[in-house]
Amino acid sequence: MDNVVIFGAGGHASVVADIIRTCTQYNIIAYIASDIKTTSRDGLPIIEDSIFYKNPMVNKGIIAIGNNFIREKVVNSIQSQIPGFEFITCIHPKAYVSSSVNIGVGTVVMAHATINPYSRIGTHCIVNTNSSIDHDSILSDFASIAPNSVLGGNCSVGKGSAICIGACMEHKSSIGDYSILGAMSFLRKNLPDKILAYGTPAKIVRNRAENEKYL
Ligand SMILES: CC(C)(COP(=O)(O)OP(=O)(O)OC[C@H]1O[C@@H](n2cnc3c(N)ncnc32)[C@H](O)[C@@H]1OP(=O)(O)O)[C@@H](O)C(=O)NCCC(=O)NCCS
Repeated sequence: MDNVVIFGAGGHASVVADIIRTCTQYNIIAYIASDIKTTSRDGLPIIEDSIFYKNPMVNKGIIAIGNNFIREKVVNSIQSQIPGFEFITCIHPKAYVSSSVNIGVGTVVMAHATINPYSRIGTHCIVNTNSSIDHDSILSDFASIAPNSVLGGNCSVGKGSAICIGACMEHKSSIGDYSILGAMSFLRKNLPDKILAYGTPAKIVRNRAENEKYL
């Protein structure tokens, strides 16, 4: 069993650790985080990232940070500081993923998520608990869909965008890069990059910056 580390040490990291332990394919040896306040979680040590970068004890792991922009930044930082670092993919055994679906490295698919045929899931995405992605949809790199969110068929979510808790996208609708569809919204059309939209039907509320906090 290969040793791995998890970048991030919050609640989302515990869920990812739980999936890895359930699958028994990898052995988690530590959480890696910045500005650490405690030195252990779930019985594992938490190691400061600057220390890990200087002397990485393994070169395999996953980023378990819920904020899409920060996850992207951490991936870039790992790639520049630890050449050859390998990102693993975590799929809960109780998720349904059609055999025709491609899933990029670093992506997490949580319990009871469904991904239907011919959908394409990018790298370092989060497909959260009980969410569903119907046929021929696209989740771009670093995007996330929150618990209980629903994408109809032929939907598209741009790079770094977040579909928040309980939100739905009508079939063939889309949202651009680094945009947010707020909780419990129903999206019926195509929305552009870098916006916050919410409501039923969802409407653009304002523009947003790539790195703006939303969690
Ligand atoms: C995206 C989100 C964070 C935006 O919230 P926000 O930054 O507070 O938005 P705004 O500052 O524009 O809020 C302005 C108003 O709209 C309301 N509002 C915010 N999101 C709303 C939504 N999704 N639906 C309806 N109204 C909403 C706010 O309550 C606020 O109302 P008020 O002025 O009467 O107090 C929020 O919509 C959301 O989705 N939160 C859930 C995130 C999530 O899914 N977390 C779990 C991840 S696993």
